[in-house]
Amino acid sequence: MKKKIVVLSGAGMSAESGISTFRDAGGLWENYDVMQVAHIDSWQTNRDLMLKFYNERRKQLASVEPHEGHKIIAELEADFEVVVVTQNVDNLHERAGSSNVIHLHGELTKACSSKDKECVVDIGYNEIHPGDQAADGSQLRPFIVWFGEAVPEIERAAFEVSQADILIIVGTSMQVYPAAGLIHYARRGIPIYLIDPAEVNVPARVEVIRKTAGAGLALLKEKLVP
Ligand code: APR
Repeated sequence: MKKKIVVLSGAGMSAESGISTFRDAGGLWENYDVMQVAHIDSWQTNRDLMLKFYNERRKQLASVEPHEGHKIIAELEADFEVVVVTQNVDNLHERAGSSNVIHLHGELTKACSSKDKECVVDIGYNEIHPGDQAADGSQLRPFIVWFGEAVPEIERAAFEVSQADILIIVGTSMQVYPAAGLIHYARRGIPIYLIDPAEVNVPARVEVIRKTAGAGLALLKEKLVP
């Protein structure tokens, strides 16, 4: 039976594809007020700006490509059972070939009803406009987990981490919960690797690879694949 690798990825995973992270210098939250564009409380008062913000993110996504690091994670499926748990709302893991991806914070290429987040439709890279309606007649909204909202996929993600033989954390500042708490579901003694060019606060048992995603994953693949 193949060993199971769970990859926890964050915005730094997409950085080398040209998508900005949130909390680095020049990151998205330096240029936008997170409360205005990514908090559920703003949806009633700030709807048009929120739609525009995510329309821009979706448009940018259409113009970028997965990088070598995404491809390495997909290639690991030849030797391991791989589950990717990502905080990213882009589809770069899937486009690189990963077949089992859990999106904790939603997906840019989907929209949902403002009344019922389970009423979801694929929209690809198209825009959502004020007045666009979901099947239930409510305003269509980005299928994104905003601050202040539940994270429905967290239980499935925690289960996957608890089943992992190897955990790889890549490109996340580990500051946003509940995602940052997933590391605590790893079984005692399994190898845990963290790939990030900056310092991230993680338990001492974690092996830190202080490199960018592409370079760090290439190094780790050599170590993991005989
Ligand atoms: N390769 C790997 N890591 C990188 C790279 C790179 N090329 N460039 C930057 N990083 C690292 C940064 O050092 C940082 O630790 O990626 C991390 C990005 O952290 P954040 O911007 O905080 O992104 P993330 O952890 O994914 O944010 C979590 O916050 O705003 C919300 O919903 C949003 O999903 C997001 C969540």
